[in-house]
Amino acid sequence: MRDQVVLTGIKPTGMLHLGNWVGAIRPTIELSHKPNMKTYFFIPDYHALTNFKSPDKLCEYTYGAVATCIALGLDPSQVVFYRQSDVPEVFELNWILACFSPKGLMDRAHAYKMKSNPNSDVNMGLYTYPILMAADILLMHSNWVPVGNDQQQHLEIARDLARRFNQQYRTDVFTLPEALISLAGVVIPGLDGRKMSKSYHNTIPIFAPPEHLRKLVFHIATNSSGIHDQKDIETSTIFQLYQLFSTPKQMEDLKRQYQNGIVWKDAKEALFSLLDDQLRGPRAYYETLMDNPQKLERILQEGASQAREVASKTLERVRYTLGINQKRKTHGNGSSRP
Ligand code: TRP
Repeated sequence: MRDQVVLTGIKPTGMLHLGNWVGAIRPTIELSHKPNMKTYFFIPDYHALTNFKSPDKLCEYTYGAVATCIALGLDPSQVVFYRQSDVPEVFELNWILACFSPKGLMDRAHAYKMKSNPNSDVNMGLYTYPILMAADILLMHSNWVPVGNDQQQHLEIARDLARRFNQQYRTDVFTLPEALISLAGVVIPGLDGRKMSKSYHNTIPIFAPPEHLRKLVFHIATNSSGIHDQKDIETSTIFQLYQLFSTPKQMEDLKRQYQNGIVWKDAKEALFSLLDDQLRGPRAYYETLMDNPQKLERILQEGASQAREVASKTLERVRYTLGINQKRKTHGNGSSRP
C-alpha cells in the first residue's frame, strides 16, 4: 500500500502559541505515529513575507517553530521538516497553478478579504496566498492536511485547483487533499476571549518562561460575577482553554468548582498549573534545541533534500503534462508519464 501523506505548515511570524498546538501540532503528532504515514512539517517562510518583514525575527521564529514541534513530540527521525524557501520547486508550481486559477476564485479568498482596505493593505502576495499554499500541498501529494478552522477555505481552493488540472489534462498527477480540522467549530480563545491569533495580539506562547506564562494566564479576561458566585463555564475563556489540555476527570472537577463559586484567581491558578505541568519537560527540551541552531539547520537541510526528491518528481510530471521543456513521447491526452 502506498503511504498516506500528512503535511502541515505554520508561518514563522511569532512564537508558536496554544492555538497552533491544538489546531495543527497535536493532530500531526497523532497522525505521525500511525503506520504507513509519511509526515511533512514545513515552515512557510515565503507565506510569512506577505505581512511580516523582519529579517532577524524570521530566522529566529523559523528555528523556534521547528524546536517547538520537536519538543512537543514530532520526531525528526520520522517527520520531514523543511523550509518552504529551501524547496524552489514550490515556486515553479505556484506559477503553473496561478495560470489555472480564475481571478474570481482569489477574489473570494478570505485572507485578503479580511483586510479593511483592499487597495492599501493588500499586496499581490497576500492576494495570491492560496495559490502558493496549494503548491505546497499538491507538490508533496498530500492526502491529509491538519489545520485550524480558518484554513478550510484554502484547502478547498487547493482541492479545486487540483481537480480542475486533473480533469483538463485527464491525468491523476495531483492528489486531492483533505483538510483535517481537529475540534471543528471550536474556537480556541485568546487572552481577550476572541479567537487566539497573532493578528489580535492575544496569544499564549507555548514555551513562554513560567513566570511569563503565569502572568499571561492571569491576564485572561473574566466576567464580573461576584467573587463567590457560581461561574458559567460556557462563557469562560479559562474553562475553554482548560478543557483543551485536561483529562475528562480534571475537567469535571473544575466544572464542579465553577458551580460551587470558584474565585477567578483560583481558576487561573488551576489553568496555569495544568499548562506548566505539561510543558515543563518539553520546555527544557525546547531550550536545549534553541541553543543548538546548527542542529536545527541540519534537520531542515536534510528535510529539504528529502522534500525536493518528491517535489522534483511531481514537477517533472506536471511539466510533461503541460508540454513545457520536454519532448513529449506521445500525442494525445497527456495521461502518459515521463
Ligand atoms: N496558511 C497557513 C496558516 O496561516 C500556513 C500554510 C501555508 C499551510 N502553506 C500551508 C498550512 C500548507 C498547511 C499546508 O496557518
